[in-house]
Amino acid sequence: MANTPRPLIAGNWKMNGLRHGARIQVDDLLERMAGADLQDRDILLCPPATLIDMMVAARHVRAQPLLVGGQDCHTERSGAHTGDISAEMLKDAGCEYVIVGHSERRADHGEDNDTVRRKARAAIDAGLTAIICIGETENQRQSGETLQVLTGQLEGSVPEGADAANTVIAYEPVWAIGTGLTPTVEDVAEAHAHIRETIGGLIADAPMVRLLYGGSVKPANAAELLAVENVDGALVGGASLKAADFWAIVTAI
Ligand code: PGA
Repeated sequence: MANTPRPLIAGNWKMNGLRHGARIQVDDLLERMAGADLQDRDILLCPPATLIDMMVAARHVRAQPLLVGGQDCHTERSGAHTGDISAEMLKDAGCEYVIVGHSERRADHGEDNDTVRRKARAAIDAGLTAIICIGETENQRQSGETLQVLTGQLEGSVPEGADAANTVIAYEPVWAIGTGLTPTVEDVAEAHAHIRETIGGLIADAPMVRLLYGGSVKPANAAELLAVENVDGALVGGASLKAADFWAIVTAI
């Protein structure tokens, strides 16, 4: 399997989780990891920044290879940016990954492709792997612009120097996030094939870049989605909050 991308199942907790309940879920997940032989895949949780320290400590205590990531980072390393967190700070806190350009950040904070590209650059410079999110809105899909939108987002958001070790692409149709709706497997296959082809012109080792599908992934549909060609893992929101559900997705590959 050395010539195929190593699967990555990533959980995005978004703005959810308080210390006590989160610790219970993380310990539950770590216990499941300890009892399984899953060395052929990577398991990542991206909690709110307030819980990164707890997660890093918990994985250390249980000696499990749970990866931890941030949900966003600033474009700069440090400075007068009240409320923001830099990639270097995430690295310092024990993170290996950071999500950039999630559609909720693009919508809530007006982040454009150029901002996302600079965030990804900052992440890579800090030694993190950037998970760059792209995806079309419902209107864009209905008007047949999906592939064109994905091309534009990739060309605008992938920084120079991106490679399979420092960059992951997550395809998340905006209309599928948190809605319970998912594209057909044919649509996912088409989008992922298009992404693979497009990054061929942007990233040197494009065949080895992990391409994640995200948007209403749950235990019931994970196996089907993860079996699609060019889908190398999943970015899971709601279903990553409960260890049992997340585990069902992790083991659906
Ligand atoms: P969802 O979110 O799984 O809750 O749809 C996915 C995401 O936004 O990453």
